[in-house]
Amino acid sequence: MNARIIDGKAIAADIAIENALRAARLRDAGTVPGLAVVIVGDDPASKVYVRNKALACEKAGLNSWVHALPANTPQERLIAFLRSLNADPTVHGILVQLPLPRPLDARAVIEAIDPAKDVDGFHYQNVGALVVGDPAFYPCTPWGVMKMLEHEGVGVEGMHAVIVGRSTIVGKPMALMLVNAGATVTVCHSKTRDLPAVTRQADLLVAAVGKARMIGADMVKPGAVVIDVGINRLPDGKLCGDVDYEAVAKVASRITPVPGGVGPMTIAMLVANTVRGAEKAAGLAAPMPTRIA
Ligand code: GUN
Repeated sequence: MNARIIDGKAIAADIAIENALRAARLRDAGTVPGLAVVIVGDDPASKVYVRNKALACEKAGLNSWVHALPANTPQERLIAFLRSLNADPTVHGILVQLPLPRPLDARAVIEAIDPAKDVDGFHYQNVGALVVGDPAFYPCTPWGVMKMLEHEGVGVEGMHAVIVGRSTIVGKPMALMLVNAGATVTVCHSKTRDLPAVTRQADLLVAAVGKARMIGADMVKPGAVVIDVGINRLPDGKLCGDVDYEAVAKVASRITPVPGGVGPMTIAMLVANTVRGAEKAAGLAAPMPTRIA
């Protein structure tokens, strides 16, 4: 069997067109959607991500501002800066790029963001809404995975979804979204015993660990849908996912590549969330995520 490739780049391009149309409608009504990205310190990977986020906003006709603060920025100064963004009516989305340098407390920083501008969906208020299954800003990467599955016509209801990775940014919100959508969900992590025995039960396998090619063909049930959230840099500089793509593509029914799979979806959903924030602020009927519980 050879898996069908889920083309995240193409799906993200469709969403980008939708984002641009919605942004144009807002501009006609006098509001230019704006995303403020805050980066603290000079982690090279974070800088690349931040630049890509800002570029995607510009392409869709949004304003974007990248605020680069020094690594030794005191916590109170960062929080005061976020409060000024909260109060700025031209800013509809605020994103603080993670991880933050020590000794900054990421949780305290996230809680200082107005939940109505928290386009990452990391604030307790948005996390709580996701737990309940109410519309809110949902974290962009797992929300992008849900959109991808929807676009591919993969109905997750009744499926056994196995997620490898329990991060706050991907694994845990992914589990909640899938549970809300009617899947039976198992979350695996570094302490899971006999991981391959669990992953082999998956109809839908989501890998979000950050370990190059750790999911081999022997860990995948024939015909499973495999979503690879990992982005790992190999010693030769190339990018690869958490899934051994060549081997698993022979077993799975569908698979996402790296690059060109989940990555572009994350950015498309970030722009979508920012546009939605602007729609709400402008009092235009906001297309909210479907209530999924
Ligand atoms: N670092 C890695 N992924 C993300 C993300 O989705 N949002 C933010 N703010 N930082 C990240």
